[in-house]
Amino acid sequence: MKTAIDAPVISDADFQKFAEFFYRKTGIHFDDSKRYFVDKRLLERMQATGSENFRSWFTALRFETHGRELQHLVNAMTVNETYFFREAYQFDCMVNHMLDEIAARKRPGGRIRIWSIPSSTGEEPYSIAIYLLERWAKIDDYEVEILSSDIDTNVLDAAQRGVYSARSVAQLPRAYLDRYFTPAGDGDWRVSRDLVNAVEFSLVNLTNATDTRRFRDIDLIFCRNLLIYFDDLSRRIAAEAMYDALNPGGFICLGHSESMSRISSLYTPRRFPDAMVHQKPIEG
Ligand SMILES: C[S@@+](CC[C@H](N)C(=O)[O-])C[C@H]1O[C@@H](n2cnc3c(N)ncnc32)[C@H](O)[C@@H]1O
Repeated sequence: MKTAIDAPVISDADFQKFAEFFYRKTGIHFDDSKRYFVDKRLLERMQATGSENFRSWFTALRFETHGRELQHLVNAMTVNETYFFREAYQFDCMVNHMLDEIAARKRPGGRIRIWSIPSSTGEEPYSIAIYLLERWAKIDDYEVEILSSDIDTNVLDAAQRGVYSARSVAQLPRAYLDRYFTPAGDGDWRVSRDLVNAVEFSLVNLTNATDTRRFRDIDLIFCRNLLIYFDDLSRRIAAEAMYDALNPGGFICLGHSESMSRISSLYTPRRFPDAMVHQKPIEG
């Protein structure tokens, strides 16, 4: 591998080739502004695999049959920032309004399915579970399932280990921390096994139809802080995959800086007192 005083290890042409390949695989779009972030991680992967240069590493990546290096790369390139009770006004909206509408369309004891994608390290699906248990009076009247998915295997493992830093739980009311967590040393907190068992985690790329077609009969989707990493085409693919996954009348919550109106006209905006969300039309 060349050193810093030689020509750059990752040339502009290499970067372009890589960015196109990675976009095709994940829907994640890297422009020149991400150059430092991407180069640093590419160099780490080249080093970890003992590759001579970008070309040999990239050739091996494209021709591997098991997909292991691609998964390492995906894990290295994703941004996994998250915390408990992030953008909690949408969870308020869930228990105050959306679930009641969904439940009204079900038979007594019927199944309600919630999909949190991307899960990152699990704070979002566990926040949903805590909200349901603490703040939705009808929780025992329905069979509620929480599914949660991400493209990154490291975060899925961390979600199932369920150990969180003080920073990650900082927004949680103390009573919930005491009820659902135990101290795990060094100021960390371990989420209860009951909550871990309440969430079904899976590896899913939201822009890959083979992955997403397994998800059907969903009533509510949290897809927050993922579309910001996509370009418009990937956003449209994601919006259509979620449309196919949702039941008529089902809802989507996006992150506060994300919008559906620019991407897709498939959904109807719904303004509730707590939040603005997107709904799959009941008819149609
Ligand atoms: C910033 S986190 C958002 C986590 C959580 N939803 C929240 O709002 O706090 C973004 C996550 O998106 C995941 N991700 C990126 N591309 C994805 C894709 N194509 N399909 C599924 N997940 C993806 C990343 O692995 C990362 O964990």
